[in-house]
Amino acid sequence: MYLQRLTISGVRNLDAVDVQLGRGVNVFFGENGSGKTSLLEAVHILSCGRSFRTRNLASVISFSSDRCTCFGLLHQASGGVASVGVSREKGGDFLFKLSGEVVRSAAQLSDTLPVILLNNDSFQLLEGAPAFRRAFVDWGVFHVEHSFRGAWSRFQRCLKHRNSLLRHDRIDRLQMDVWDREFSAAGEMVGHCRERYLERLRPVVETVCRQMGLNLDISLSYNRGWPEGGELNALLREHLPRDQKMGFTHYGPHRADIKVRVDQKPAAEVLSRGQKKIVVTALKIAQGYAFQADNPGRHCLYLIDDLPAELDRSHRKAVASLLQDLGAQVLVTGVDRDELLAGWPHEPFGEQDMRVFHVEHGSVVTA
Ligand SMILES: Nc1ncnc2c1ncn2[C@@H]1O[C@H](COP(=O)(O)OP(=O)(O)O)[C@@H](O)[C@H]1O
Ligand SMILES: [Mg+2]
Repeated sequence: MYLQRLTISGVRNLDAVDVQLGRGVNVFFGENGSGKTSLLEAVHILSCGRSFRTRNLASVISFSSDRCTCFGLLHQASGGVASVGVSREKGGDFLFKLSGEVVRSAAQLSDTLPVILLNNDSFQLLEGAPAFRRAFVDWGVFHVEHSFRGAWSRFQRCLKHRNSLLRHDRIDRLQMDVWDREFSAAGEMVGHCRERYLERLRPVVETVCRQMGLNLDISLSYNRGWPEGGELNALLREHLPRDQKMGFTHYGPHRADIKVRVDQKPAAEVLSRGQKKIVVTALKIAQGYAFQADNPGRHCLYLIDDLPAELDRSHRKAVASLLQDLGAQVLVTGVDRDELLAGWPHEPFGEQDMRVFHVEHGSVVTA
């Protein structure tokens, strides 16, 4: 599966974009402020209905437009073509479409066009709050464990209800018990799915790190969000007074974290800035390998923003060759064309082709 054609209108400073993409690597170069990140942002919105730059989608819409539209034609493994479209009016709601049919949930977009993003913010995976690491694991779990989706939305509903009950002056214990049971059942399931995924991801991360020339002992351990050995339902009951005082639920998978350690020490503390970039890149590439192992014949699309700023030339080469081996379609940006192409083998990209685009003052043209 790959994105064959991309059409964008009304997104930030971009003029109307209509490009045919190659199924291998697609290089977008241009000066700062030309619109490269906006182009990747549009593809990200197409893949999940969200921007990676802002929660406020209205700010993505061009100052001069009333709506933004992103549309993609996908070449599928079966040989068929599917389409995916997202549009949003200023002040209005999203409209998601798959092959012409309106769909309600952004999850259906992600199913159709799974995207992995690597940008300057990816650092947060090591340095940021636990929510970034949960989002990383949940991306993987979402795509491989189908029971996760139901458990996850059940859990979210319970968490919301439980937290709102906690803020009432008087708590109806019977009602609380019902929510607690459902909360625990869904929460335990979310935890198991994440643990199983990490189990599968660990050896892949090791291999990818080695292939990127990183000979460090990297370990990923999962902290599920409530004490080991403890039973979630019992903990909720036991700690109800504290939860009530705080006004939120203390234990559960919403508090989970993944500890990334290097030689037993926290990666965020011991690695150099450069090494962190390599580890984060390795984690994202490993995620692509794990995706493909669990979804035979399918690929995810990599969006890599400003690669030369992120990695030195030798590591860019390692990334290029891993992505080539993966057979993934890649959209990569950078300021300097030669710098970008130097990291990427210019020879035919296996059986896939490579395209180069120049982004200039919002217009995207084949270079
Ligand atoms: N809603 C908007 N409408 C029009 N232009 C915008 C909007 N939001 C941001 N911009 C402008 O879009 C330009 C492109 O930004 P960006 O895609 O980040 O460029 P690049 O990644 O090439 O450096 C910036 O100059 C920014 O000021
Ligand atoms: Mg940019």
